[in-house]
Amino acid sequence: MKRKYFDFLTNIVYGIFPERKKNKKAAKFLQEVYNYVIFLEHFQEKIKDQSYNLSLQVILNEKTKRLCFVFVGFLDNLPLKYQKDIEDAFRLLVQNYIYKSKLLSRFYRKPQGYPGDYLMFELLYDNKPISKGLGYYFDNLILGYPFTKSIISRKNYMTAILKKEIFDSLNNQTILNIGSGSCREIKELLPLGIDKKVEFHCLDQDQDSLVYAKSLLANRFSNITMSFTHQKALSLFGYNRLSNNFQLGRYDIIYSMGVVDYFLDNVLSRFLRNYYALVASRGKLILAFCGANYFEYYPIKLFCDWLFYNRNYKDVVKLVKDTLGVKPVILQPEGNNSIFFVIVGKK
Ligand SMILES: C[S@@+](CC[C@H](N)C(=O)[O-])C[C@H]1O[C@@H](n2cnc3c(N)ncnc32)[C@H](O)[C@@H]1O
Repeated sequence: MKRKYFDFLTNIVYGIFPERKKNKKAAKFLQEVYNYVIFLEHFQEKIKDQSYNLSLQVILNEKTKRLCFVFVGFLDNLPLKYQKDIEDAFRLLVQNYIYKSKLLSRFYRKPQGYPGDYLMFELLYDNKPISKGLGYYFDNLILGYPFTKSIISRKNYMTAILKKEIFDSLNNQTILNIGSGSCREIKELLPLGIDKKVEFHCLDQDQDSLVYAKSLLANRFSNITMSFTHQKALSLFGYNRLSNNFQLGRYDIIYSMGVVDYFLDNVLSRFLRNYYALVASRGKLILAFCGANYFEYYPIKLFCDWLFYNRNYKDVVKLVKDTLGVKPVILQPEGNNSIFFVIVGKK
């Protein structure tokens, strides 16, 4: 164990909770963290010359789950700044173990400058460990987490919704995808034999994601048109003018996954107002949200400093009604209450 990092964490914790001797809660927390790091040290030794062992994986998963419970309990009600200081110090302490996982390392480093980039999501959708040794175990740990499974099930559910909308419609479709990333759901939809003309318009703030999606998807089917716009979702609507191709009432479907979870409520309201105006009559705005199960998201926050807002669907229904005056339909993939879809139809 890097003693200096443990001392650093100890100093932060006792800086927040002085009176070291009396503070049993802080001492217990530090002991739990210490035990976890010692466990990782031993674990690393144990797996050294062995092939993959499922029982060891179960032990790592259990120990990590327990650690997350300890963190959530200890940080509860602490000011956000203290929570962040403690989590940052913890990541320093365990960096030589957990970032042997290439997945966790990328999620933490955020090389595109923001959390949840297109390659990160491709790695999650591929759902396969890619690291060696201890990293392999941590890859598996994070791929097995409810959070990761929710992301995959969100993509599958969106593919199913789009498929139904497109196949059930009698008309050609014009579809806008906001925060399109790798467009994995479109990639999985195209080979299903779409029987009409569909124009997909993909918008993302990350030019690299658009280049990537274009290389995968453009010019593959004669009835499918793909276009790409590099822009931030809300900067389309500056100075009461709409940029480029975007026109009021143009789109049969506007959908978005993995974007609104980064917006505060006032920004979400603006987003709803502006994009609802681009939906055609009898069209739909379809948005995926992360639900309010904080504990399920916590490991990704603790290990990767990946933050977003998770919401209760009742609060979202109220926000949509207050903003657009329309009651949305809520859909949830079976067996998954960590995410939900909000569908706002237009008359
Ligand atoms: C979490 S990823 C999800 C990608 C894809 N929708 C999916 O579910 O696989 C979020 C994507 O939205 C983009 N994004 C985030 N905020 C955005 C914004 N305000 N405007 C445009 N794109 C945004 C990011 O660049 C990234 O590609």
